[in-house]
Amino acid sequence: MKILVATEKPFAPIAVAGIREVIENAGHTLVLVEKGTKADMIAAVADCAALIVRSDKVDKEVFDAAPLLKVVVRAGAGYDNIDLAEATAHGVCVMNTPGQNSNAVAELVFGMLLSLVRNRFNGTSGTELKDKTLGIHAYGAVGRNVARIAKGFGMKVSALDPFVADEVMIADNVTPVHSVDELYSANQYVSLHIPANDQTRRSVGKHLLSLLPKNGVLINTARKEIINEEELAQVLCERTDLRYVADVKPDCADELETQFPERLLFTPKKMGAQTSEANINAGLAAARQVVAHLTDGWNKFQVNK
Ligand code: 3PG
Repeated sequence: MKILVATEKPFAPIAVAGIREVIENAGHTLVLVEKGTKADMIAAVADCAALIVRSDKVDKEVFDAAPLLKVVVRAGAGYDNIDLAEATAHGVCVMNTPGQNSNAVAELVFGMLLSLVRNRFNGTSGTELKDKTLGIHAYGAVGRNVARIAKGFGMKVSALDPFVADEVMIADNVTPVHSVDELYSANQYVSLHIPANDQTRRSVGKHLLSLLPKNGVLINTARKEIINEEELAQVLCERTDLRYVADVKPDCADELETQFPERLLFTPKKMGAQTSEANINAGLAAARQVVAHLTDGWNKFQVNK
């Protein structure tokens, strides 16, 4: 059967080689569309039984164009780019590859934070992360890696996650917090790791940002959609001590960067999972999951049940 890998942001070549091996060893054929448009994906998916994507949008148009499609695997964590209702309506199983790229995202958190607090290494005096407070908003796979690295920097770490038992955080030497207001008011640094969904879209705005202590920094390596951008712009105007770091840029980035260039740091493209290791982990997991699904309906990580 044909398995389409359609990624606007290509995997590292070594990951593509591994994906090809998994697919071909199972007797299937890899169709590779890198840096393509949605039209390219739609044309290529017509005779494919499976589709592997990253943040690439998979909507009704794609499902309508794919009569043979059985499974879509999002090589990564967040699946807000896939229309789950349409997948279900078309009888397609959707899976993600949880945890596979989480270390890469967590390392980027600190790469960006260091660049921010050292003034982009411009020769002026910055600050250190040691002994500073870090609140982790959602303690999933990325949040846990962020906590592990933060402790290496000597930060004081707390986390909020209603789906994670206090004992799990305590075992990691992380202080459990039980309200979002407490998380934002008690930590100079807050790192966002919530998914983008109907409950979370635009949920981080003026109220929470205003709670951050003096010299507060919000770092968002999750999704731009969870930020209320108008309110972010307003709070950045009102509070000249506040800084915002994000992978990827908000829609109003140009406007913000003109007004507050030193208090912002953005990646030009979503870079969190863009390492060879993460590409190999997530890409190979996706290929194996596709093969398992096509073989016997394996669906352990199905998200549209
Ligand atoms: C994820 O949800 O796994 C990350 O945001 C990575 O997304 P990407 O595969 O588009 O880099």
